[in-house]
Amino acid sequence: MSAQKLFTTGWDDYELIDAGGGKKLERWGKIITIRPEVQAYFKSGKTFDDWYKMAHWEFISKSGQTGNWKALKKDAPDEWQISYKQLTFQLGLTKFKHTGLFPEQRTNWDFISENLDYEDRFLNLFAYTGAASVVAKKQDAITFHVDSVKQLISWAKENMELSNLENIKWVHEDALKFAQRELKRGNKYKGIIMDPPAYGIGAKKERWKLENKLDELMESASKILTKDGFLILNTYSPKIDLKMLERKANYYFANRHFEVKELWMKTSTGKELYYGNLLRVG
Ligand SMILES: C[S@@+](CC[C@H](N)C(=O)[O-])C[C@H]1O[C@@H](n2cnc3c(N)ncnc32)[C@H](O)[C@@H]1O
Repeated sequence: MSAQKLFTTGWDDYELIDAGGGKKLERWGKIITIRPEVQAYFKSGKTFDDWYKMAHWEFISKSGQTGNWKALKKDAPDEWQISYKQLTFQLGLTKFKHTGLFPEQRTNWDFISENLDYEDRFLNLFAYTGAASVVAKKQDAITFHVDSVKQLISWAKENMELSNLENIKWVHEDALKFAQRELKRGNKYKGIIMDPPAYGIGAKKERWKLENKLDELMESASKILTKDGFLILNTYSPKIDLKMLERKANYYFANRHFEVKELWMKTSTGKELYYGNLLRVG
């Protein structure tokens, strides 16, 4: 299988305007941000002068993974909402350079909507602010949302309520431990999405690296997936390339149809930006 690019796209309330020079320029509703982006090693489509005329906020990296947001316009809000189809998401400026949404996941939200029916069981592992959970709940799926950070579960609840939905099952736990427990309990899921960070942190603050946990995660997930179910796995770790993902998928999902792809998005200026790797089973 050759490495294929899967292009995800923006929507009315999200636009990847431009990228280059180690940064990206994005529009979230009416608010425009500049964020560092290691994958944007090429020259930007527009000049940085143009970027700074448009943008409301820029993220300035400090040390490690954190930094500060600098206001580029007076009265720019630091919290606001955007819509995706009939869903509403709360956005905010976090010290990790994120805003509460990973827009490149749009392709997976659509896949989830298309593949879930009323009362199917759906599991979102490493669920962050719950975009995929809310998408699944909109399909009336019985939705389990697992994350090890309490504040992020609160943020996800806000997104559920803003989208006029209810009854997502919130689980504050280590994703792998939950999956292993579900296996012991004999519970199965029609859909699973896993979006593990390269470096994980458990509910009791235990730290782990994805490359050391991926096999256990894939094995447990494969065993709690129904025979006709689907699984989505995103990986951002440079230690897990497409070939390795494909070999693992061949092993853990031996008799299932699957595809392994690179996730990309085009900027409005015609540049192409890489967002990590994607496995879809089913
Ligand atoms: C990359 S984000 C997921 C993005 C999300 N799926 C989306 O598209 O909106 C990673 C999430 O995993 C959570 N996390 C990290 N380690 C975890 C662990 N061991 N168990 C459960 N959640 C974990 C973090 O709190 C964070 O919310």
